[in-house]
Amino acid sequence: MTVPIYENASTAADYIRERIAVEPRVAIVLGSGLGAIADTVEQPVLISYGDIPHFPRSTVEGHSGRLMVGLLAGIPVAVMQGRVHGYEGYSPFEVTFPMRVLGRLGIATVVVTNAAGGIRTTLKQGELLLISDHINLTGTNPLVGKNDDRLGPRFFDMTEAYSRPLRKLAHEAASHHGFELQEAVYLAVTGPSYETPAEIRAFRHMGADLVGMSTVHEVIVARHMGIDVLGLSCVTNMAAGVLD
Ligand code: HPA
Repeated sequence: MTVPIYENASTAADYIRERIAVEPRVAIVLGSGLGAIADTVEQPVLISYGDIPHFPRSTVEGHSGRLMVGLLAGIPVAVMQGRVHGYEGYSPFEVTFPMRVLGRLGIATVVVTNAAGGIRTTLKQGELLLISDHINLTGTNPLVGKNDDRLGPRFFDMTEAYSRPLRKLAHEAASHHGFELQEAVYLAVTGPSYETPAEIRAFRHMGADLVGMSTVHEVIVARHMGIDVLGLSCVTNMAAGVLD
């Protein structure tokens, strides 16, 4: 059975559109523990994921599971507070459904954030990193199956999945705030178990700097729809075996 992604995402986007006064062109997906930015959104309209047609509900603690639409520095934004993960039992289609809805809502740019384990030995716990590229080691891809040309093309380029101009802007913003933002390659696994030290050594040889359990499927779907992506990771811990 083919899931009517386009139709369901359009229904969900219509539901959201009827409840908001602004037209957001930028979205932010907040990962675990990164919810605080939502406190700075002005004139927020809050919509629980549970109220949005076809939307998956998050079951993880620290993911409140609601969409906030309002103004951030005067710019209309849609902020996703919480996301669902494959390890919760959701399919890649369900995990990426909210991104489809953002696309149908007319979002042109998305900022994806996540918590990650640090593989590169020089990283520090608590450090913020700019994702320059990713390695999808989840063993699957959310676009497997018949392509819906209304959403995007069958085959498309992933050379600059994480927009170079947006990364340049992020570097400029960081230096404006007095710090340097390093770039990192994010490797995604399904989890929920953390990795073994041997896996982390293997991932390092593959060119990964960070490991986590989210983001890559959402980014693939965002790029499928032509949405520009900026990715930020917060190193919550050093990956297995990195520290004694
Ligand atoms: N491994 C996988 N996912 C993670 C980690 C980790 O060490 N830290 C935060 N998310």
